[in-house]
Amino acid sequence: MKKTAVAPSNIAFIKYWGRKDEELRLPENGSISMCLSRLTTTSTVEFNESFLKDEIVINGTIEEREASRVVKHLDRVRKIAGIPLFAKVVAANNFPTGTGLSSSASGFAALTLAACAATGITMNEQELSILARQGSGSACRSIPSGFVEWLDGDTSESSYAHSLYPPGYWDIADIVAIVSEGRKDVATSQGMKLFGTSPFSEARKSGIPQKIVEIKDALSKKDFTKFGEISEAEALNMHAVMLTSCPSLIYWTPGTLRLMKLVKQWRTEGVEVYFTINTGQDIHLLVQGADVHKISEKLKELEFVKETIVNKPSAGAQLITEDLF
Ligand code: PMV
Repeated sequence: MKKTAVAPSNIAFIKYWGRKDEELRLPENGSISMCLSRLTTTSTVEFNESFLKDEIVINGTIEEREASRVVKHLDRVRKIAGIPLFAKVVAANNFPTGTGLSSSASGFAALTLAACAATGITMNEQELSILARQGSGSACRSIPSGFVEWLDGDTSESSYAHSLYPPGYWDIADIVAIVSEGRKDVATSQGMKLFGTSPFSEARKSGIPQKIVEIKDALSKKDFTKFGEISEAEALNMHAVMLTSCPSLIYWTPGTLRLMKLVKQWRTEGVEVYFTINTGQDIHLLVQGADVHKISEKLKELEFVKETIVNKPSAGAQLITEDLF
């Protein structure tokens, strides 16, 4: 009744922002992403008759902030499995939490897989993705491997992610630049509720299907220029909606902006690099494998970049044998 899973975070090139169903977490639009090799959550879940309540430990401390969301997810698993037992969950991220690196994606993907396995139920990848989505939307994209598409769907059963290409398909990297400490001031789940308040929300929604066609075409041709241009413009499009929401959502810090400008400058100097940003100050730089060293060296020279993490496309969620408790 005790199982451990590890799951990657993922970076979306075409992003999920806004929900057409809050309870089921059905997104306003489909999205395209890549699983990230160096940003992972490991989660051990045990159901046991002797437990008198659920206990959630995240990064070594008993969790208050996210506990109810995790318990709600355990309830979904208990309902499917038909077991009434309480659980202990011990989860650890190997990267900063709450700064735009999507710990909820890796966290809920690992939790879903470990919890299902701990109850003994077997689910296929699609079913796991559907379940993970209900904990955190982007978590559904951390179940399949490599380059992934989340089909928005109009029902719970039709809203899931699947792999477009395996991790080894394309030698590109996502270099995460950590530009400041501290958590973002508005959680993603809360921020997303403001989607409809932006005067640009409809324009964003109507443009997404074409962008998905174009980025899938760029992926199929391994056209890095097209792929990078679409990804960077898409991140700015999402942030335009955030900035113009009511109240406005400003996730960037001075370090984020300085790096955005530098990326554009480096391109004019001949290095092909693009940025993308989620909810938070940390910034993801998209580069081809051959340019990883060059960009990493440039980042090392910047005093406001605290740390860099080089991610390659990775496998999705997997069960492992090593328990956290
Ligand atoms: O699944 P959530 O609630 O962590 O939302 C993810 C939202 C973005 O990271 C901003 C975009 C995305 O598609 O990952």
